[in-house]
Amino acid sequence: MERSTTMNNKNHIKSHDAFATTYDSQAKQYNSYGPEVLFGMCYEYIKPGDSLLDLGIGTGLSSVLFAKAGLNITGLDESLKMLKECRKKGFAKEILQCNIRDVPLPYSDKAFSHIISCGVFHFFGDLLPTISEAHRILKPSGIFAFTIASLTEKDAGLDSESIPDHIEVQTAWGIPIFKHSDKYINNIAETLGLTIQKEQKVLVDSGDKDSDDILFKVIVMQKT
Ligand SMILES: C[S@@+](CC[C@H](N)C(=O)[O-])C[C@H]1O[C@@H](n2cnc3c(N)ncnc32)[C@H](O)[C@@H]1O
Repeated sequence: MERSTTMNNKNHIKSHDAFATTYDSQAKQYNSYGPEVLFGMCYEYIKPGDSLLDLGIGTGLSSVLFAKAGLNITGLDESLKMLKECRKKGFAKEILQCNIRDVPLPYSDKAFSHIISCGVFHFFGDLLPTISEAHRILKPSGIFAFTIASLTEKDAGLDSESIPDHIEVQTAWGIPIFKHSDKYINNIAETLGLTIQKEQKVLVDSGDKDSDDILFKVIVMQKT
């Protein structure tokens, strides 16, 4: 069992419900273009007709770009209100309410050409169960692209050897988040046989003019 001061999952999902109808306009207001960065980093690996699973699809800001590129989209999210907003856009082949941390997910091995999860993993401490599951349902050579909030040596006040897998921090967004270390992500990739093809640092507005922007990373892994 993960030790965490984070609100329980029901309350956590309520907070996503509350933002569902304003999510897209807020993303613009905060200049939050992580979905575009992630899409651009994946572009060389995708082709029309490929299938793509979006873990935590939200209103669909990330996977709508892949739909425009001709991919067939399946989306999972626990927030019914987010899913309602996503459905209105009409681009996804299938959308299901699902807690993506409840593994196994309802798909067979090697079911999807590609998997993405943008703006989701900073809500989770232990990422191994979800990334292992993505690895199971990903086709060989498929990519798994996701974002994390990055835990740096400066954040942790520790050197790279002693840095923890993740720490939980409060934010001005009204929700605590987890930051994950490079060492942790690299270990997971190595354990599962995923190759890290690309990484890009992205700064995200902290929502508080007195606090620094928050360092995120977009990571593209490929199943060998
Ligand atoms: C910040 S939004 C990002 C939405 C979308 N991926 C995007 O790129 O715009 C995070 C989404 O993750 C979903 N989420 C958080 N925890 C989840 C969980 N355990 N299972 C399924 N969805 C979850 C939330 O409901 C929300 O829609």
